[in-house]
Amino acid sequence: MTTTTIETTTDQKTQFLQETLTGLQSEPKFMLSKYFYDATGDRIFQQIMDMEEYYLTNAEMEILQYQADQLSQAIAADGSSFDLIELGAGDATKSIHLLNSLMSSNLEFSYLPIDISAHVIDDLEENLPKKLPGLNMTGLNGDYFDMLKRAAELSNRRKVVLFMGANIGNMNIADAEKFCISLKEILSPNDFLIIGFDLKKNPQKILAAYNDQAGITKSFNLNLLNRINKELDGNFNLEYFDHYASYDPASGACKSYLISLKNQIVNIGNQAVHFAENEHVYMEISQKYSLADIDQLAEKTGFKPLQRFFDQNQYFVDAIWKVD
Ligand code: AVI
Repeated sequence: MTTTTIETTTDQKTQFLQETLTGLQSEPKFMLSKYFYDATGDRIFQQIMDMEEYYLTNAEMEILQYQADQLSQAIAADGSSFDLIELGAGDATKSIHLLNSLMSSNLEFSYLPIDISAHVIDDLEENLPKKLPGLNMTGLNGDYFDMLKRAAELSNRRKVVLFMGANIGNMNIADAEKFCISLKEILSPNDFLIIGFDLKKNPQKILAAYNDQAGITKSFNLNLLNRINKELDGNFNLEYFDHYASYDPASGACKSYLISLKNQIVNIGNQAVHFAENEHVYMEISQKYSLADIDQLAEKTGFKPLQRFFDQNQYFVDAIWKVD
């Protein structure tokens, strides 16, 4: 078993401050959902994934549990060795089924989980080798594209990139296109991308997943204010903000906002930010796709759709694309 950690060298705190101030000095205001995931955010996201209303995790889990062998056959392609690179690996509870299947097929591969959260990579490095003895693994903590470039430097084997969990949904369609084009540019012809999409479905079902009764999604959004207070010397009062979620079935955009409940000034370091009463701060998009939208995204960005794997309710799809 080989386990190596490569830490990111970028100054994450300076970037967090700059991007936060840029968003809050814009009109309308926004924050970046990539900053939701500090240790507390990771914990709240776990609670979201366990919620009754949040169907996405179980749907994709079902695909990985019951169709891992078919997925690994598709990945095996010509039987050549490869690097399985997972973007936003989380706790790998889904990908472990695929890893298991790949290991029992005696395929030669390395697993390279990439995550922006150092906690996630540390946990994976501690726990995954216990569950999968013999797994060849290199954890990469940092930005997806910086770390993908590192992965390309580490070996010239063919690449299979896993981007599950509907993480693509946290980009608007224009950004998703740019993201796929950037991926395609780093990859080589015949490399694979396995990408998870939450499908358009009954709007009530989607809205409930982002507007849960217990208020867990609300605390997930508010936690970013807490993080700013702690890490950027802010003084947000969380009681003066509420969470609002919306879903537009025509565009498939599910958006969440924080609403300022009063006219207020918040300090972040030495900067003062004014919030009007009822002013909204755009926090996150969770874009939903039709199958046609997904094929269109592949074709527009230089990929060829190969295969699709669904859960039994057809809530979710893991699509396999090949670099064209
Ligand atoms: C990580 N991502 C796919 C989640 C989603 O469904 O958009 C994040 C999330 N935000 C609120 N609930 C879940």
